[in-house]
Amino acid sequence: MFVSENLDVNEKGHLTAGGVDTVDLAKQYGTPLYVMDEALIRKHCKSFKNSIDRFYDGKGLVCYASKAFCCLEMCRIMKDEGIGLDVVSIGELYTAYKAGADCDKICFHGNNKTDEELEYAVDLNVGRIIVDNIYELQRLDKIAEKKGVKANIMFRIKPGIDAHTHDFVRTGQIDSKFGFALETGEAMEAVKIALSHPNINLKGLHCHIGSQIFDIDPFVEAAKVMLKFIAEIKAQTGHEISELNLGGGFGIKYTEDNDPVPYEAYMEKVSAAVKESCRELGVKQPFILIEPGRSMAGPAGITLYTCGGVKHIPNIRTYVSIDGGMTDNPRYALYKSEYEAIVANKADKPRNTTVTIAGKCCESGDLIGEGMPLQEVEPGDTIAVCATGAYNYSMASNYNRIPKPATVFVNNGESRVVIKRETLDDIIRNDI
Ligand code: LLP
Repeated sequence: MFVSENLDVNEKGHLTAGGVDTVDLAKQYGTPLYVMDEALIRKHCKSFKNSIDRFYDGKGLVCYASKAFCCLEMCRIMKDEGIGLDVVSIGELYTAYKAGADCDKICFHGNNKTDEELEYAVDLNVGRIIVDNIYELQRLDKIAEKKGVKANIMFRIKPGIDAHTHDFVRTGQIDSKFGFALETGEAMEAVKIALSHPNINLKGLHCHIGSQIFDIDPFVEAAKVMLKFIAEIKAQTGHEISELNLGGGFGIKYTEDNDPVPYEAYMEKVSAAVKESCRELGVKQPFILIEPGRSMAGPAGITLYTCGGVKHIPNIRTYVSIDGGMTDNPRYALYKSEYEAIVANKADKPRNTTVTIAGKCCESGDLIGEGMPLQEVEPGDTIAVCATGAYNYSMASNYNRIPKPATVFVNNGESRVVIKRETLDDIIRNDI
């Protein structure tokens, strides 16, 4: 009935998320409000973890890509579920550390890490620093030397797979700001340089082929390309790469048109391909890491708004104005990403109107969606936008000095605030 499996309608005709009445949540906590279903987040953790246990004999680690949605409580839940973290800045790393994350289960990414970030990662003994370029490698080697340790690294590799076309293609794809290209020889050169640096331990290789991908084949292809490179490294240098990080990118259902495959199916095929390539190429089976972000957090989230004005422009469209917008969800403004919306207090009614949901920012492009089917809506109604758990809060801004919404977790019929709503004093806290 709805895009996310945890949404339903109760006897009052109200939308429920994880069994909790969303109209009550809007009343209790105010709107706009991010609501996340903890049980669904935990379910996704288990399904990714189990898939590695089942198809790759448990020789791997799931690292949640915290850029999708990062806060202390999310990091604590990941720790509790035995999931590591992918962090991409000192801010995410600090959050992980403060939440008590196991730092040896952290992958630290970024195409332009500062010395401060690298030092912090070395101090915290982060499990894997994903090195993006030679300049970074050299700086990291010096930092590790100064601190008398060896830094564990992976290299970010461009596997040359474009997963975003309808039929994925193997392009040169040299034109990316992330990582080392294979076909130019740059990646092999980097490996040789790393092996000559005494304070660097080259543990593994990393690739990430894109995001919101529904096909399994490009992931399989990327794994094969990476193993071929691992075999070449062994042949040319004798060095055995022990870990392979295959990144994230698994698609989720934003609208009825999206049809994600079960994550078990992904791991089943990729594990088989990795094992087969290892046999063929005569290399040891690497420890595998994956970095799902959107698929862990996205389906678990909804955003609740209160409808303000409704503007019918005859023969043109109907604008439904909400009390949030691109400040809490910039994804339509940025990518024209589509969402499903529901009038939460009329969730049992048919969606027989078509509307444009507009935010409250001083900007015409501040929309949540156009041509959206919706129930008859009137001022004061609660509007839920679904599958907003990933890349909404994490990309929120204070444009127009609008305070960021609170985030509430629901679980077992209960709700609790995990991120407080910003206050007006928060808005001016750094002003002098
Ligand atoms: N690992 C690496 C190295 C990544 O760059 C990313 C996402 C992930 C893992 C997680 O990918 P996921 O499983 O979430 O697809 N702001 C955009 C998404 C940007 C994704 C960037 N990297 C959006 O709102 O769609």
